Amino acid sequence: MNTMGSQAQRYSLGAMALHWIIAVLIALNFIGAWVADDAPRAEKLQMMASHKAMGLLILALSLLRLVWRLVNRPPALLESLKTWEAALAKVTHWLFYFAMIAIPLAGWGLHSAAMGKA
Ligand code: HEM
Ligand code: HEM
Repeated sequence: MNTMGSQAQRYSLGAMALHWIIAVLIALNFIGAWVADDAPRAEKLQMMASHKAMGLLILALSLLRLVWRLVNRPPALLESLKTWEAALAKVTHWLFYFAMIAIPLAGWGLHSAAMGKA
């Protein structure tokens, strides 16, 4: 764990595990929704049920990850980065956190809007 003033050299095991578990689940859920779209209706309903369950799991894991990130300091960016590069990296990281939460929320909204139809 970090002591005051010093910063870890690399991401913790927990941060890396969450990063990759979530990345793989998002990729699978994306492909799943795509494949389901072309599947016959009965299969599509089943696949979309799994899609929604997995999407909610991704949402829960992403919220957990956001809390983790707010509590644990990540390693410092490389000192060789120019100011604008470091700023761009930070903005990109936060945009990813936003997307990881906004995308399943949007899916949930779509699901609720289509209740009884799909
Ligand atoms: C859905 C896919 C992905 C999402 C949502 C995602 C999200 C993120 C986020 C939010 C961070 C910042 C962590 C922090 O400092 O708080 C990060 C860092 C990082 N990600 Fe990903 N990521 C994804 C896929 C990938 C893939 C496919 C790769 C590699 C090919 C990758 C490589 C990295 C690396 C190397 C870092 C560390 C950056 C640094 O050292 O500053 N990520 N990712
Ligand atoms: C990270 C999480 C998620 C990803 C990456 C994702 C991805 C996608 C993609 C790519 C589609 C478009 C399929 C197509 O028409 O080709 C889609 C559709 C959809 N998703 Fe998600 N989704 C996620 C989470 C969720 C969640 C949490 C729910 C509901 C609780 C959900 C419900 C839906 C619904 C209802 C559709 C529309 C299916 C249709 O066209 O009839 N998604 N999703």
